[in-house]
Amino acid sequence: MARSNVIFVCQECGANQAKWSGQCDTCGEWNSIVEEAAKDTTPKGLSAKKGRRIEFVGLKGSEKPLPRMLSNIAEFDRVCGGGLVPGSTILVGGDPGIGKSTVLLQVCAALSKIEGSRCIYISGEEAIDQVRMRAERLGLADANVELASATSVRDIVASLDEHNAPTVVVADSVQTLYVDNLDSAPGTVTQVRTSAQELIRLAKRRGFALFLVGHVTKEGNIAGPKVLEHMVDCVLYFEGERGHQFRILRAVKNRFGPADEIGVFEMTDAGLAEVSNPSAIFLADREDGVSGASVFAGIEGSRPMLVEIQALTAPTAFGTPRRAVVGWDSNRLSMILAVLETRCGLSIGGHDVYLNVAGGLRISEPAADLAVAAALVSSITGVPVPSEIVVFGEIGLSGEVRPVSQSDVRLKEASKLGFNGAVAPEIHRRSGSAKKESTQNLSVVRIKHLEQLLDYIRIEGEKNPPKKPHEKAAANQG
Ligand code: TYD
Ligand code: MG
Repeated sequence: MARSNVIFVCQECGANQAKWSGQCDTCGEWNSIVEEAAKDTTPKGLSAKKGRRIEFVGLKGSEKPLPRMLSNIAEFDRVCGGGLVPGSTILVGGDPGIGKSTVLLQVCAALSKIEGSRCIYISGEEAIDQVRMRAERLGLADANVELASATSVRDIVASLDEHNAPTVVVADSVQTLYVDNLDSAPGTVTQVRTSAQELIRLAKRRGFALFLVGHVTKEGNIAGPKVLEHMVDCVLYFEGERGHQFRILRAVKNRFGPADEIGVFEMTDAGLAEVSNPSAIFLADREDGVSGASVFAGIEGSRPMLVEIQALTAPTAFGTPRRAVVGWDSNRLSMILAVLETRCGLSIGGHDVYLNVAGGLRISEPAADLAVAAALVSSITGVPVPSEIVVFGEIGLSGEVRPVSQSDVRLKEASKLGFNGAVAPEIHRRSGSAKKESTQNLSVVRIKHLEQLLDYIRIEGEKNPPKKPHEKAAANQG
């Protein structure tokens, strides 16, 4: 007889299937179907009982401004859109060991300084002693944070739903929580979804800010289905390269503020420290006069940020050329290589290409195209891009350079950090050759086609002929 109380749920997309299979019919993922106990899944219509009448109101009306809780960790408050909103839920995702527990403990301690607040940190992964040890290390041992090590949602809800409701609750992590009337194991889609739902409902009802920590799958999504991201008000990703000390908290969804805002932190031996001037730090270890590097004037959220882009090309030994990218989209790199080959006649086909965004930052803006192209051209020709200029602009498939947003903000940041020039897209589409102008004390070369970038780099190379390593060596010997 068929067991009707069992369903098969894809752990990637959350789709239900009647029977097990090796591949999910909905998202095509392999080995993601897990048997879970179903409650009654047969859909029922509404019964004869009549519902309550809902009051409809107009769009215009007097709204209350949202009260905000400020942690006074500026980088964190900015990512949350200017402080935490009571009753909201924030999902924090990130690779294991990136620093999610650390940052949340620090934020929790900072928020506990607010008059009349009650901050609770519930760890399902670590024992109380481990959390205490970390607090000690962070210098927060005296902070007024209440700790618990618990995983049962029933117990957690019972303890939080008392007379003296908390103002901030951290649940680390949502994958360890379980609801005891479901038969599936903790971490399965049904458990994660139900546990989150229960806590979110309580947060809304009692008006506390809820942080849920979520693990990330190998594809970089928060484990459990996308539904978790739909249920919460704010989704933050904590990212960074393991080998680098920089960590970036990025808002990918925010119902109470701008998405795409980032906060920059540095992992030190006493926890995460704010980095309030990231450009200066990302450019700190730059070397002058080397080929294959350019400085990109980017915008992350509402803030300009300058980063160095490095490229290296080397003849392919055999077989297919390698393309390796760190911190940027590899499809976009392929596109730019193709445009350089086809539209500008640069031959790269027989070269391995390595691209790296220095400092462990991940760039997603198309405005970085031109800076990437500059680094690539510089690496192939051996001519350094002048070290005191910044580059930005989007590249189209025909090799045209397109204008990007907030050009003034980018130039202003470059000027502030002591750069004296820029290569940027032409603002008004006019014909003619590269046009020079002066803005914010910068001499800006406006270009409208990628070939003009090649010309620019060639002319710079003729002005300061590059020395090849063997020439330097020969000069030293002679
Ligand atoms: P953690 O917050 O436990 O990561 P997650 O919760 O995202 O899994 O961070 C652990 C890492 O951070 C660990 O590799 C050690 C490092 N770390 C420091 O470098 N300095 C510190 O002060 C702390 C507390 C952790
Ligand atoms: Mg952790």
